[in-house]
Amino acid sequence: MRKRLFLWLLLCMGAIAASAQQASSPWFDDKDLALTGVYYYPEHWDESQWERDFKRMHELGFEFTHFAEFAWAQLEPQEGVYDFAWLDRAVALAAKYDLKVIMCTSTATPPVWLTRKFPEILLKHEDGTVLDHGARQHASFASPLYRALAYRMIEKLAQHYGNDPRIVGWQLDNEPGVQFDYNPKAELAFRDFLRKKYKNDIQRLNDAWGTAFWSEVYSSFDEITLPKRAQAFMNHHQILDYRRFAAAQTNDFLNEQCLLIKKYAKNQWVTTNYIPNYEEGHIGGSPALDFQSYTRYMVYGDNEGIGRRGYRVGNPLRIAWANDFFRPIQGTYGVMELQPGQVNWGSINPQPLPGAVRLWIWSVFAGGADFICTYRYRQPLYGTEQYHYGIVGTDGMTVTPGGWEYATFMKEIRQLREHYAPREEKPADYLARRTAIVFNPENSWSIERQKQNVTWNTLGHIEKYYRTLKSFGAPVDFVSEDKDLSDYPVVIVPAYQLADKDLIAKWKTYVEQGGNLVVTCRTAQKDRYGRLPEIPFGGMLTPLTGNEMEFYDLLLPENPGVLSMDGKEYTWNTWGEILKPASDAEVWGSYIREFYEGKPAVTFRKAGKGTVTYVGVDSTDGRLEKDILKKLYARLDIPVMDLPYGVTLEYRNGLGIVLNYMDKPYHFDLPTGSEVLIGETDIPTAGVLVFKVKK
Ligand code: GAL
Repeated sequence: MRKRLFLWLLLCMGAIAASAQQASSPWFDDKDLALTGVYYYPEHWDESQWERDFKRMHELGFEFTHFAEFAWAQLEPQEGVYDFAWLDRAVALAAKYDLKVIMCTSTATPPVWLTRKFPEILLKHEDGTVLDHGARQHASFASPLYRALAYRMIEKLAQHYGNDPRIVGWQLDNEPGVQFDYNPKAELAFRDFLRKKYKNDIQRLNDAWGTAFWSEVYSSFDEITLPKRAQAFMNHHQILDYRRFAAAQTNDFLNEQCLLIKKYAKNQWVTTNYIPNYEEGHIGGSPALDFQSYTRYMVYGDNEGIGRRGYRVGNPLRIAWANDFFRPIQGTYGVMELQPGQVNWGSINPQPLPGAVRLWIWSVFAGGADFICTYRYRQPLYGTEQYHYGIVGTDGMTVTPGGWEYATFMKEIRQLREHYAPREEKPADYLARRTAIVFNPENSWSIERQKQNVTWNTLGHIEKYYRTLKSFGAPVDFVSEDKDLSDYPVVIVPAYQLADKDLIAKWKTYVEQGGNLVVTCRTAQKDRYGRLPEIPFGGMLTPLTGNEMEFYDLLLPENPGVLSMDGKEYTWNTWGEILKPASDAEVWGSYIREFYEGKPAVTFRKAGKGTVTYVGVDSTDGRLEKDILKKLYARLDIPVMDLPYGVTLEYRNGLGIVLNYMDKPYHFDLPTGSEVLIGETDIPTAGVLVFKVKK
């Protein structure tokens, strides 16, 4: 009876959580489910062809297009001289064919008059190379002059289009990444960043960076330079601050652009199109943006897929992970670029498997996106991306196989709109297994500098848990540490190296109030500056886990260690902590065949109304992590599935979406009473099944 009550409580927790977290966005109509669009560069094509192209775009089913991304030279052909007439004509023609427009700030491509007149805005590499005109992304975000010139252009554009109902929203820059820029202005900005952080007190900085070591001590902020990658033994506390600074440069630039646009644009959203490089550390760091978007390419030569031709289909969790990372930041997300066919920049650029393009679109949809945009409508006839497929080919008219797959999706989504149910209509058992993974890229930066074992891989470690959760058919949110965790029945904190007492206290409260926390090795071993606290190693966690650590061990991969749990054996080598558990803890896994044979590696303990599972080891292949989570969810009475790697299941809008990235068909057992809307229960490779959930 008590067990059932607990299960019921969990189900309620899940349902409430989802509605709080994923309320549909004010910018999109939930009834549309998801909108589909495509990039178009009017400036690349003869104006006489625009109308034909927009007409065809519309006929294929697209609902919006995307303009002006790299058009600074056309928008401001001479300094202070603006020309929006051509863009006005393109916007008007697009509107004639019911295509809304995403407008872009073309800051990734400053025109040549600008770079020749103001070469000091150019980005500089560590080896002294100064980037130049003729490609893109050659300007330094740290240059105040570049920012001022960019803002002047953006303000004109926002004044012109901010009130235009044909423009639905804005994309800032293009795939803005973190720059490791040696422009002298970056060095000055780094010093300012440090002055502010350390309250103009160099002694504070010396303490934070431990500069007593190797005579690294500074007497003034003016002596500080940008860390050089060539210095292998560079002070890593400094590198931590440098990476925070570098991320902030990009974030501030985007935030300022956004605020400027919002002065004029009252009913248009603003986002940017990040590459999902999670460890870069800037994604989600510009608070003025309305939501976050990403770009995703799936087939580019590396075989991350399943089977002999897996590279034609791509990594089964590549889109899922991006969905689960971007959505929780602001409750919704869009995908700005998705590959329609072959790309031009991979190590090898194969054809996607027939069906794969549609599979990717559905994968984006499954995660809860509000829109999906593909890169690009026409294959370019000149320039760097000539071999890049589009929705139509080089003649501008022949629809490519990927183009037809888009058309199919757009027909299907229109059909589904007739079955509309609210975004949050999801089955209770799905919501019950809702899990958060707490992520902070600073942990990767810190561990990366002192890995202690070349085989350690922070994202790889996290993936072992993520992959398991997706096989459970669990909805997963990657969240930052300041997020309220109380909505999640289970929270995983993997290799979270940098911490402080407040964070540990927050996790402790979560557990005491009924949460179930899984903490993994390397967590809370250092403070926020990357220093070891003057307590027993790993001791910051003791108040939470009850464990103390005797020592940690690292083995050679060719001769791994073994641990055992419930009679099964697992191998490991990268990192293993030898634990001294609290007297009330259960030992779930112990090391064998080592001089510390029998000592604990995995512990479980009840605390308050919740539980803490501590996994002090990183296994070779993820089987251990999977079995630990299976054991835990069973203990908590949380129902889980057992989907094979390559099959994922998500729910939204009262629909179940099953995706098959495997190299063989997969039979899906429909939940009783559900109705198939798209596809069939025997799902072929690259196939998709969409079913309506029984209420
Ligand atoms: C993206 C970029 C686009 C385009 C595309 C080609 O990374 O954002 O502008 O270059 O690659 O695949």
